Amino acid sequence: MGGFLGVNQNWIVNFLILFGHPKAVSLNAADPTIQLDSFFTFKNLDYFNDMKKIMVFGASTSRNSINKRLAYFAAGLLENVSLELLDLNDFDMPIYSIDKEHENGIPEPALRFKEIVKQSDGIIISFAEHNGSYSAAFKNIFDWISRIEKSTWEAKPMLLMAASPGGRGGRGVLDAATARMPFNDGKVVATFSLPFFGKNFEDGRGVTAPDLLDNLRTALNQFETVVHSAVEVD
Ligand SMILES: Cc1cc2nc3c(=O)[nH]c(=O)nc-3n(C[C@H](O)[C@H](O)[C@H](O)COP(=O)(O)O)c2cc1C
Repeated sequence: MGGFLGVNQNWIVNFLILFGHPKAVSLNAADPTIQLDSFFTFKNLDYFNDMKKIMVFGASTSRNSINKRLAYFAAGLLENVSLELLDLNDFDMPIYSIDKEHENGIPEPALRFKEIVKQSDGIIISFAEHNGSYSAAFKNIFDWISRIEKSTWEAKPMLLMAASPGGRGGRGVLDAATARMPFNDGKVVATFSLPFFGKNFEDGRGVTAPDLLDNLRTALNQFETVVHSAVEVD
């Protein structure tokens, strides 16, 4: 995960961000880890438009979602990529039913979400586990976007993760998603599970347990190797 920007380039990019270059990625102000990381190392910029674009979200609508925090932290460890940090609250839509689909078509938030999938070179998701499975919010988006085109996830490389307050680390939903995504044209290249979130994660530091951080870095390496080796198909 080596950087490619030299000191002078970093300085120029720093200047562009601080003075409002339009292509500077806007990062989620609610996440101090990402914001600091990006402002002081300038890793996650859209300035160089050949950078790979990574779509990142916690599959949860909780305001203080542990999975959103994990997903953003993990994405912040990648270098030389442009991050699209999403909040599922921005994709609120009716609960899927075939009748609603026939009456009103696909809702605008689903079309918007699907377009971001298309534009991405890789996808990082951290799943909240609800009763052993997806959160209703994620399942709803998944159902709607699966109705737009045959290929739901557009063969994009995926890093799938899950965090939970308890000891199973969201294993139920992580296993379910890992098994399911290939049927919807998702290319799962790595997974990571974070148990005991309260003990193993700190705001501002991220994953604190060394063995778990090692696992996460291994998963990120696998993911970025595939992302950077992917051939662009227009
Ligand atoms: C409806 C509901 C069902 C849940 N089911 C599970 C479960 O099956 N297994 C588990 O480990 N945690 C379960 N939890 C606890 C969640 O893992 C916990 O709320 C976690 O913070 C959710 O992730 P988030 O903060 O990203 O939304 C459940 C929580 C809710 C609200």
